[in-house]
Amino acid sequence: MDDHTVAAGAADIDWDAQAGAFDDEPDHGLRDPVIRAAWATRLRSWLPEHPADVLDLGCGTGSLSLLAAEQGHRVTGVDASSAMVERARAKLAGRDAVVLRGDAAAPPVGEQRFDVVLVRHVLWTLPRPERVLRRWRDLLRPGGRLVLVEGVWGTVHPVGMAADRLTALLAPLSPDARVERLSGDCLLWGKAVEDERYVVVATV
Ligand SMILES: C[S@@+](CC[C@H](N)C(=O)[O-])C[C@H]1O[C@@H](n2cnc3c(N)ncnc32)[C@H](O)[C@@H]1O
Repeated sequence: MDDHTVAAGAADIDWDAQAGAFDDEPDHGLRDPVIRAAWATRLRSWLPEHPADVLDLGCGTGSLSLLAAEQGHRVTGVDASSAMVERARAKLAGRDAVVLRGDAAAPPVGEQRFDVVLVRHVLWTLPRPERVLRRWRDLLRPGGRLVLVEGVWGTVHPVGMAADRLTALLAPLSPDARVERLSGDCLLWGKAVEDERYVVVATV
């Protein structure tokens, strides 16, 4: 997330317009090998050890989807922005992956079920997150997991979702929601950050 994106607020963001420059942010494009390796290491620790079906909702240009595919997982990406979908499809070409255009809150996957629902920096933008989380839980096979990378960005007018709120929303859905703090790992962001950044891994 960059300061410009944060200042715009979730409802105002034109993701099609953002798509062309989206990967310029170090943690979006993962072009720097050190940053890429830092995300790859974290992602490996959040995903199952065996090849799994991963649903990446609000996948953007597909950077995390590609890391997951490189780690042997079968990936379905979903994004509402056609420009993002186009870039994700190009990034994932030749991989065991499909990218669909659709709503992360009601993914167009029919009866298909997944081992992992992976969502980075999207939940906080969606209305009625408690309902969205229930829907995502229902997309999981028994023993599956939600991997939710979120945060609170900015200091003057912070936006996002604090870990305490997300774990409270998950409490009725998951017996085991683990928060891992990410703010202190500057390799993930390409710079030192002081705001709240974290992942919740919640098994169902
Ligand atoms: C901050 S970007 C994160 C992209 C990607 N998850 C990542 O971490 O690189 C937010 C993405 O969510 C998508 N998005 C926002 N609301 C959505 C919705 N309701 N359904 C599907 N995609 C959505 C946007 O098009 C954008 O690609």
